Parts: sequence; structure tokens; C-alpha cells
Amino acid sequence: MENFNFYNPVKILFGKGKTSELSTLIPANAKVLMTYGGGSIKKNGVYEQVIQQLKPFQVVEFGGIEPNPRYETCMKAVALVKQHDIDFLLAVGGGSVLDGTKFIAAASKYAHGDPWDILSKHVLIQDAVSLGAVLTLPATGSEMNGGAVITKEETQEKLAFVSPLVMPKFSILDPVFTFSLPRHQVANGIVDAFVHVMEQYLTYPVNSPVQDRFAESLLITLIEEGNLAMQQTTPVYENRANLMWAATMALNGIIGAGVKSDWATHTIGHELTAFHGLDHAVTLAIVLPGLLRQVKEKRHEKLSQFAYRVWNIRELDSKKACEMAIDKTEAFFRSLGMLTKLHEHTIHEDTIDKIILRFGQRNMKSVGNQQDISLVEVKMILKSQL
Ligand code: NZQ
Ligand code: ZN
Repeated sequence: MENFNFYNPVKILFGKGKTSELSTLIPANAKVLMTYGGGSIKKNGVYEQVIQQLKPFQVVEFGGIEPNPRYETCMKAVALVKQHDIDFLLAVGGGSVLDGTKFIAAASKYAHGDPWDILSKHVLIQDAVSLGAVLTLPATGSEMNGGAVITKEETQEKLAFVSPLVMPKFSILDPVFTFSLPRHQVANGIVDAFVHVMEQYLTYPVNSPVQDRFAESLLITLIEEGNLAMQQTTPVYENRANLMWAATMALNGIIGAGVKSDWATHTIGHELTAFHGLDHAVTLAIVLPGLLRQVKEKRHEKLSQFAYRVWNIRELDSKKACEMAIDKTEAFFRSLGMLTKLHEHTIHEDTIDKIILRFGQRNMKSVGNQQDISLVEVKMILKSQL
């Protein structure tokens, strides 16, 4: 196992009715900016529950954080934070609202010019407004990590930043809040969490049985509970609870500590969203199968383990077993309703060229933390999914 530092101070309040504890979690006398998305919380009762809890505080509201949150939108909230002297942010929504709020938290305290530099130049932030979260869509893990992904509309760029300073002080995870999700968003969450695990698992062995078996348990849970969720015509609490906790555990740092992580699928996928506005998880469902086929020889050992332990494949020819595991993974995504080919989204070869050009302009020679996927291979990965 490799050396690591692990730090995760996010307090999790998990379960039905947990929003009733919200008022005890926010510092007394705080001036709160409550952030949310396009209005789903006003239709499913979450807004009322939260507003009830915010009665003891001064509250300013900022709605309209869109999926794939935009820098331009977040900067409007930064102006509100400064105007009203806000000292606590409460994000109520999915990963986009949480990520947007993390950026607002950092940008509000950024005094060195344009806060976009936090994303484009990886400028380390020194300070951030404290934040908490009420999660309504299990997928990103944003509720228990310090990452955020922001899109700049003007330049069609989608970039990430990470800082412990924007980890939520607390996150409330009530599975009932996910009951109003449309089916395709439930599927998005399952695929996003699945790929988060794969990004931290499917690389190279470092003798890390704890992390490996945690990762495998999450993958198997996501397959089992994901299939159940798709069969259920009305949401079942236990199923939604298991999916919610799996998605949080998939990206809170635990399974990624001390192992060789990747993130190439995400790096490529973010470009598909940047250019075509595809849902985040949809891009991952396209890229991951192509990527696994590209690296199946280099990463043979982990891929064989994945085939045996996650997909229960008993084929003795390990090369064949790896191919079967990749096919099963793609078939699983498709069974959730994901379209895994680019042409199914009317995306063609010109986009692949634009992505390669852009990576080149960023002086990237390869993608992913293992530097084992060259730009030529990125092109092959995307072409294989045309
Ligand atoms: O905006 P509202 O009206 O709330 O509607 C949202 C949105 O339209 C809706 N929704 C959320 N909860 C709902 C609901 N509708 C009905 N009932 C509910 N309970 O769902 C739509 C999608 O929401 P969004 O927040 O965009 O989805 P998700 O949670 O999948 O977040 C995706 C974003 O997170 C980033 C992605 O890149 C993308 O921008 N990621 C963040 C990560 C992180 N911070 O660690 C890691 C991920 O890899 C990912 O990159
Ligand atoms: Zn993701």
C-alpha cells in the first residue's frame, strides 16, 4: 500500500426525518445564504422542511444553480454573500448545487483577482465561507468531499478544484428526498458512483485488500440495488438508503487512500459535457467501457480481479474473462437506460478532434493519474465508442 494522509471531518446525518436537526447544526447568529437549483425542492417538500429549520437565522435565498453549475451564475451569489455579509452557506440539492456552493464559498473569500483562477490555474485557496448541505440526489459524493466541478459558459470549459476548506461542516442525507427523482437521474447517480469506485480501483495492484474489498462491495451493491431501483415502480426506502450511502462512500476518500487512482474517464467525460451539455454520468457510461477495452492489457491484473469478484465470472481464459467483464459493465449501464455510444447522442468524430486539440493546448501528454493513457489512446477510446 502507498503512503497517504486521510482527513474527512464531514458530519453525516443519515436517515428519514434528519432535517429536523438542521437548526442545531448551523452556528448561532449565522447569516445564511441558502442555495438551491431549478426548483425541484419546491415541488417535493424539501424547501418547506429546510425553511422551517432556518427560522432562527437571518436567511437570504439564491436559487437557479443549474446542472453543471456555471461560474457566471455562482458569481452572482458571490455578490450576494458580500452584500449581505453572509457567514454560512447552506446548499440544498444535488451535486451541482453542492459544487456551485463550494465554489461560492471559495470565491467569496478570494482576494487575488478572478476566482476562475482557482479552477484554471489551480491557485490554492486560503479561506472559504463555511457551508453545510442537504442532499437530494445521491451520485457525486460532493456531500462528503472537498471537490467541485464548475463550468464556464463563455469558454465551454468544465474544470475541477479540490480543497479541504470547502468540505461541508455537515451533510444531511435523507433517502426520502430522493423519491421525487426522475428515473434517469436515479440511473445517473448509480453510474456516477460506480465509475467513482472504478476510478480508484481499476488501475494497478498495490496490495491493498481493505480498499479493494471496500471498492468491490460498493460495486456489487450498486449493481444489485441499481437493478432493484430500476424494477421498482414506486421508490422503496431501503433501496434508496443503500444507494445513497453507497454513493457517499464511493467518493469520500476512504477507498482512494493508499491506492493508485485514475480519473481519466472523468477527465475525458467532462469534455463531452463541456462541448455537448451531456449529463455527467452519461459521459462516464460512454467513456468507461471504451477506456477499459483500451487498457485491458496494461491493467490486466485488476481487470481479472474485477471480473472474478464483482461479476462472478469463472472463465479460465483470463483475457476472455476481462472482455466479458467489460461487456457486462457496458450492458449494466445500458440496462439502466444509458446510451453508451456517441452516435446515440449525435456526437461525431469532429468532437473527438476538438477534445484532443484542447488537451494538447493544455500541454497534456496523457490523461489520468497513472499517465498510462496517451492522447492517441484517448482518440482510440472515443473512436471505439462512436
Ligand atoms: O435543479 P433542480 O431543480 O434541483 O433539479 C435537479 C437537476 O435538474 C434534479 N434533482 C435533484 N434532486 C432532485 C431532483 N429532481 C427531483 N427530485 C430530487 N430529489 O436533478 C437534476 C440534476 O441535478 P445535479 O445536481 O446536476 O446532478 P448530480 O448530483 O448528478 O450532479 C452533477 C454535477 O456534479 C459534478 C458533475 O460534474 C456535475 O456537474 N460532480 C461533482 C463531483 C464532486 N463534487 O466530487 C464528482 C463527480 O464526478 C462529478 O464530476
Ligand atoms: Zn463523477
